[in-house]
Amino acid sequence: MRLLVTPFPQEEFNPTDDRKSSDPSLGVTCFDCHVNGHTTGPFHLNPDVRPQERRLRLDTTSLRGVFNQQIHSSKRSLRSVEDFTEFEHRTAYFNGDEIHAIKKGMNILDRIQVSHMAQMQNMLDFPPAPKLDPVTGRLDRSKATPSEVRGETLFFGKAQCSGCHPPPIYLDNQMHDLHLERFLNKEPGDGPMKTFTLRGIKDSPPYMHDGRCFTLEDTVEFFNIVLQTRLTAQEKQDLVAFLRQL
Ligand code: HEC
Ligand code: HEC
Repeated sequence: MRLLVTPFPQEEFNPTDDRKSSDPSLGVTCFDCHVNGHTTGPFHLNPDVRPQERRLRLDTTSLRGVFNQQIHSSKRSLRSVEDFTEFEHRTAYFNGDEIHAIKKGMNILDRIQVSHMAQMQNMLDFPPAPKLDPVTGRLDRSKATPSEVRGETLFFGKAQCSGCHPPPIYLDNQMHDLHLERFLNKEPGDGPMKTFTLRGIKDSPPYMHDGRCFTLEDTVEFFNIVLQTRLTAQEKQDLVAFLRQL
């Protein structure tokens, strides 16, 4: 916990004169972006892609329930919280630029410290979901509204969401290529992307790896187009009512 809230120098926030702040800065902490182990939705640019115009925007993910996830980062597919912690601290903080990193005061964490940081992150649980059955993660129908019940039926049926977001944590631990180039004019799609969990999803807008969808309504419309499911306005509303209970 101490290391997760200790500031370390980083590309833009550091003691050198090409920093972003007017005063010298000690750097950033993990929990500056992952506030309280969750997120307030800040984004940064994918650290190591060149040229600048091709750098993707990345929305900060919540670390809630990260212990239950097998792949990390929207694109990198790193396989442990330890590996991601080391990657973030060592590579992402300095855009993969070693000369700048040395000049600006990079700090290399020992693997023992990395595993302590990871073990702390692995204590962060999903938020309570009082309308879900605690074991199966399915809606407790005695507590749900008719709209939420209809939404659950759609989620597991016509809307096709459960194929990639299966309960109880609404995650398949896979990457999928949604082939968005089908809907774009001579632009590339995103390629394979990590599926994100839908547990606690109401608490972490904006949505998708780059925050392109501001609301759950936008996200439902996005998948309605991608999956060509032709949901009615009422069905979209019911689906959102269900997502809010996860
Ligand atoms: C400048 C903001 C920022 C800081 C500081 C930051 N992160 Fe992140 N973190 C992100 C973003 C953005 C992502 C999403 C990356 C992606 O999708 O590829 C992320 C993703 C992660 C993930 C992967 C979540 C998943 O399962 O996909 C972990 C774990 C993580 N960060 C841990 C840390 C640790 C540990 C630190 C401190 C060493 C840290 N982060 C510092 C912004 C930040
Ligand atoms: C083919 C697999 C697949 C199906 C089917 C699918 N999703 Fe997803 N979902 C993904 C992937 C992959 C992402 C991450 C995409 C990205 O970030 O670009 C995602 C992201 C999301 C997010 C954003 C999560 C976040 O933390 O920002 C929401 C919300 C979501 N899906 C809801 C749904 C709903 C609702 C349905 C059904 C209408 C659905 N998904 C169907 C694979 C799928």
